[in-house]
Amino acid sequence: MKSRKQGNGSRQSNGDPRGVAKLAQQAADGTLLYETKNPLPAQTRADAVRLMNKRLADCIDLQSQCKQAHWNVKGPMFIALHKLFDEIYEATGEYIDLIAERIVQLGGIAEGTTRVAAQRSSLSEYPLVISSGEEHVAALSDVLAQFSGKARAAIDELEDLEDPDSMDILTEVSRGVDQWLWFVEAHQQTRPQSTEGRSAGSRFGSSSST
Ligand SMILES: [Fe+2]
Repeated sequence: MKSRKQGNGSRQSNGDPRGVAKLAQQAADGTLLYETKNPLPAQTRADAVRLMNKRLADCIDLQSQCKQAHWNVKGPMFIALHKLFDEIYEATGEYIDLIAERIVQLGGIAEGTTRVAAQRSSLSEYPLVISSGEEHVAALSDVLAQFSGKARAAIDELEDLEDPDSMDILTEVSRGVDQWLWFVEAHQQTRPQSTEGRSAGSRFGSSSST
């Protein structure tokens, strides 16, 4: 039998012979990177990976919420919303792939399992007991707007990190999410209101990327 090299050896627990738990923590901390010829500094890549993994968790959560809405919506707008929510689900899958593959390009590990996403997502929990089109429009537009705000905050942080390509990816994603927000929100918009006395972005403007 081949012997397995185990670092300094004696502290490896029998339940974790490959030291995966320690590696997992280092990955979550953004300190675990593959070597790459990508010219960005290692610290920039580590910080960007950590940031993008948070948004990856949000995006996976968002996608599952779209399907939840697709399955459960009822009422006179059923067929239109049922189809729309599925279109958003499909598009969100592409956003997930863009974010995850950028993480890997930077030498990071895309942490995109459902369990990790459930632990990390910063989006609101989707209500399980709603049924009408109006309720699903309200719930899904809420999380689309939350995601959009988080993506924008992450773009600002990536600008500080001087990683314009990750910024570009999140800009593409947030632009797409904004379009879906319009498609959903248009079902509940009635007439415009005066902006006097309202601060810019007052409805959704307090998002941070955490
Ligand atoms: Fe379906």
